[in-house]
Amino acid sequence: MTDLQAGTERQDDLHTAATLRELIARELTGARERTSLLTDSVDSGDLVRQHSPLMSPLVWDLAHIANQEELWLLREVGGRESLHPEIDPLYDAFEHPRSERPTLPLLPPDQARAYGHEVRGRVLDLLDRARFSDSGFAPGRRVGDRFAFGMVAQHEVQHDETMLITHQIRTGAPVLTAAAPPPAPADGVSRPPPTR
Ligand SMILES: [Fe+2]
Repeated sequence: MTDLQAGTERQDDLHTAATLRELIARELTGARERTSLLTDSVDSGDLVRQHSPLMSPLVWDLAHIANQEELWLLREVGGRESLHPEIDPLYDAFEHPRSERPTLPLLPPDQARAYGHEVRGRVLDLLDRARFSDSGFAPGRRVGDRFAFGMVAQHEVQHDETMLITHQIRTGAPVLTAAAPPPAPADGVSRPPPTR
């Protein structure tokens, strides 16, 4: 490989990394906006209450999102120590089924939000320096940064969906608004235009 080819490849790598950084930052920010909407729209009582034994209290989801983000990005990718090791077991979904989560000494809402904010700030610093040189995942070795950032963004979106279900189960006045669906067709069935 010539120096020119090597230089071009390095430029391509830098361009790819910058594009990925932008994409990941956008996905993380979008997920967090949905999380904030779902958890800022109810009061503290509704956040800590279990609205169904099938679901976690919303405040558990809130801190669990932050805890998984810390685990996979700050610790696995960034090699950092746990920020608050004493709370790690509380937010381990395998250790505590949903039915028992309300009995745990969970972080109260303001501390759960502060924890998520602290983790996200550090994650964005980590993202600024990410080179995405390792995209794979294999048992027994550190998770690749490209995989981990994508997984964490997806994880938060999945919990947003779970929290939306909790909102639907919750009793009381609805706190989320959505645009009205379009009117149903007169015959009750939407048909594509005829083709010839
Ligand atoms: Fe989870």
